[in-house]
Amino acid sequence: MTDARVEEPRPDPATGPGEAELAEAGLRLDVDGAIATVTLNRPERRNAMTFATWRGLARIGESLPEGVRVVVVRGEGPSFSAGIDLGMFSGGAGSAFPDGSDAAASDRFIAELQAGYTWLRRPEIVSIAAVHGHAIGGGFQLALACDIRVIADDTRFCMKEPALGLVPDLTGTKPLVEIVGVNRALELCLTARTVLADEAARLGLAEHVVPRETLDTTVAEIAAAVLAVNPGAAAATKRLLLAAPGNTLDEQCAAERHEQIGRLREFFGAAKA
Ligand code: ACO
Repeated sequence: MTDARVEEPRPDPATGPGEAELAEAGLRLDVDGAIATVTLNRPERRNAMTFATWRGLARIGESLPEGVRVVVVRGEGPSFSAGIDLGMFSGGAGSAFPDGSDAAASDRFIAELQAGYTWLRRPEIVSIAAVHGHAIGGGFQLALACDIRVIADDTRFCMKEPALGLVPDLTGTKPLVEIVGVNRALELCLTARTVLADEAARLGLAEHVVPRETLDTTVAEIAAAVLAVNPGAAAATKRLLLAAPGNTLDEQCAAERHEQIGRLREFFGAAKA
């Protein structure tokens, strides 16, 4: 297997994924007004994810209808996601791993998969992970890619990649460290231990822990609350908050002024016009 195999024709980003593409990716997409729900939909495999899943997620992000302001990510069946489809390591489930011999091609390959996660941080949307059961490896990282994690009391997080000889490379290391700190992140990743819901809440890995049967209603209530906020103010505030950890106080103050000037223009500029 060589890195040349990773070069594949790219679908047109303007057209959203069709049902067949989503089904092959093990995904379902339901758009209801301003709320899009992405469902990991291979319950018989505990929503294990393949390259097609990550590319499918990226395609959903690229083609998200303009009016969508909340994206809910959830899993069908007993688990949120059991992470990477282990069949891919033995050549099944559409596997075509780059072997790393062409670093640039391997880098592009992984970046394409990461794009399935990064769009969830876009300022124009608020992403909510509705997690239950197992959220392992790439599944845990998908929850970490979301802005808000609402978890059921049966949730079990585990960052398993190092135990399999890999690193977590689906955008999860940054939010994990930002939430729990370097030392706790190191302990979780290098022991690959399971974090239950109560501990997840204590560590800040969940904004809400709810009984399994109220997960969907809690998520719906949070989505409704988000939609009640002015869209421009929501996007500007998310930009500010995401930038805050990397900014000095002076830089953050400047960013606040910049965003507020934009808000003032919208309020008073519109009134003058
Ligand atoms: N890849 C492929 N198939 C999987 C995966 C997976 N990651 N996880 C579960 N399945 C399959 C099982 O093989 C089983 O298939 P079968 O019915 O044909 O035997 C089916 O899904 C149900 O799995 P069970 O183990 O029977 O379900 P259970 O609810 O008891 O356990 C659990 C769920 C804990 C998730 C367990 O399946 C498991 O440990 N899976 C492997 C998790 C893993 O190591 N993931 C890799 C993480 S690293 C990364 O993501 C990069």
